[in-house]
Parts: sequence; C-alpha cells; structure tokens
Amino acid sequence: MAVIPVGIFGAPYDVRIERGLLRNAGEACRPFLRKPLALIVSDERVAECWRRIVDAAFAAERIETRWHIVPPGESSKNWARLEGLVDWLLHNEVERGDAIVALGGGVVGDLTGFAASITKRGCRFVQIPTTLLAQVDSSVGGKTAINTRMGKNLVGTFHQPCAVLIDPDALDTLPLREVRAGYAEVIKYGLINDRAFFEWCEANGLALLRGDPTAREHAIAASVKAKARIVSTDERETTGTRALLNLGHTFGHALEAETGFSDKLLHGEGVALGMVLAARFSVRQGLMKGQEAERVAAHVAASGLPASLHALNLTCDGRSLVDHMLHDKKMDAGTLPFLLMRGIGETFVARDVNLELVADFLDQQLRG
Ligand code: GLY
Repeated sequence: MAVIPVGIFGAPYDVRIERGLLRNAGEACRPFLRKPLALIVSDERVAECWRRIVDAAFAAERIETRWHIVPPGESSKNWARLEGLVDWLLHNEVERGDAIVALGGGVVGDLTGFAASITKRGCRFVQIPTTLLAQVDSSVGGKTAINTRMGKNLVGTFHQPCAVLIDPDALDTLPLREVRAGYAEVIKYGLINDRAFFEWCEANGLALLRGDPTAREHAIAASVKAKARIVSTDERETTGTRALLNLGHTFGHALEAETGFSDKLLHGEGVALGMVLAARFSVRQGLMKGQEAERVAAHVAASGLPASLHALNLTCDGRSLVDHMLHDKKMDAGTLPFLLMRGIGETFVARDVNLELVADFLDQQLRG
C-alpha cells in the first residue's frame, strides 16, 4: 500500500494505492462521506464488473448506494450527460459537503469532476479510477472537462478531488489494448524528467502489461508521485511546469482529430505515437541524438503501441495535421507551444517552432 500526498495549495489530498481496495470501497470512502449515503457515478462496463462488489463493500459499512450510470466511451462527455448528471445529483439532494464518488476511467472522472465543480457552486468528489490511464494521469490533478462540437475537452474546470483511491487489481478486467494505452502515460513520466524511470520501463514494462502486480504497483506509484510533484507546483498550467505533461499530446491530438477521435486510435495510442514524433522532430531540430529517439520508438513498439506514422495509413498530408494542431486548446497568444526533448528525461517547452518545418517533417513520417 502507498499513500501519496498531492500538495495543492488550499486543496491538498492523498492518493491511496492498495490492491483489493475496491472490495473495501465502503471503508475507504467512509472518511469522506458525512451521511450513510454514497452517490456513485460510473459507466455500464465498469458497473457490470464492479457494482455487486462495491455495493457489498458499502453495505458492510451500512452505507446506502445510489448509482448514476452512463454509457461507456468519450461520447458521454457531452452537455446532455452533464445536465443529466447534475439533475440527478440535485434530485438526490446532494449537499456541498457531500463527496460524490466517480468510479471508472477518465470519461467518468472528467464528467463527474465537472458536475461536482458546478453543482451548488462546488461539491466534493472522490476519484476511484479503474483504468491505467486514469490511475496514472487523469484522476490526479483536478482537470475536468466535456467535449463540444468544437472539440475535445474544450469546456471544463480545475476542481481537485478530496481523495483518489486506486486499486491496481481493477486492471484485471481491463482489455489489454486499454492497459497499453494507459502505459503510454507511464512511459511519459520517464521521458519528461526521469531517465532512470524510463530505464525501469524498458526493463519492466512488458511484465506490467502481462499483469505482474509488483510492476503495476511500482509504475502506478512512481507515476502518481511524478504527477503530484508537477501539479502541486503548477496546478493551473500557468508557469509551464504542468505543460510538460502534454508531451506527445500536440502530435497525438492531431492524429486523434484526423482519425475522428474513434477506436482507430485511442488517446493513449495517440500520445505514444506523439511522443515518438516529438522525439524524432527534436532530432530533426538538432536537439537530440537520433539513437535516443529510436530508443523511445523501440520501447513504444515493444509495448505494442503505435510507433510509426506511416503504419497508420492516413490519407492526409502534414499540413492538415498541423491545421488540427491549430485548434488545440494549448494555443497561447496565437502560437502553439511544443514539448520537445534534448534527450530521454530532458523535455522542455519550445515556443518558437516553425509550423512549416513541422508539416514537412510529418509529410516525411507519413511516407515512412
Ligand atoms: N493530463 C495532463 C494534465 O493533467 O495536466
């Protein structure tokens, strides 16, 4: 078991990582509930796997549960689902001091966090992330959002949970493709500023993907510690430190947009390929040695994640991928900050990148 503090000024909380925690969800949530009632938000897939077990865990603590279940997938992060959830919370007479429970992946966490942040001007919420991506990234740091017809995650708030409760065993029921997609965010922490952790990933990543519990727990704890360090110094992405977490996301977002935010490319897969492209573009800019970038690509490929733009078989050109980037919410005073690398573990924010060079580079990568 590990307890990792997230030292956000004015809103500190702990991330508790413990195998079997879902079977004790009632005991784990009890400190955050003021009444013997848990309002739980989840999705159909997660509820199918865990509802019976979670209900029993709350019943053992004499806590009543009420569930609001949304369809799985990114399409639930919309205005209609947000309205439905807020109405349900109000119907259940949620109070500002009550903690709503978000049980699921990033979609459930983002939607519930957003609803919690606006209902009665802000209620508390507990994150119980059940995907690797949510456990190592989206459940920590308080970003909440829905998608609109103008793009992904364009409407949302910063609203910190009052606790994050992580059960690594929740990954037992997750499809391997989704575990791999979450693993991309684990690799990311090594590439940002921790070469030794990237080397740990090279040595242990495949064991993690096979379900080795020690490797899983180590990777989750190391990732949460890295994220906690970053978000506690730059909660709102204003100083540039939190922006480091966007490594691979600008290229990845363009690829997700080009593939229609569909199952053709999961978010984590886009990030994985985006990190390879950021590394190779850094080489092209004369910032990083080619062998370092190819080491990144080799580990991404060995993990079963996409490492080649050519292999995606897209019909677009580099310019249209750059056009997608220009709709990115990270645009800042008309320019797009890029996360580039001087080496593995040496990521930095570059604000003067020539987009023509990016388009040329992408044309070359599309050709293979
Ligand atoms: N997932 C990036 C962040 O939380 O800032």
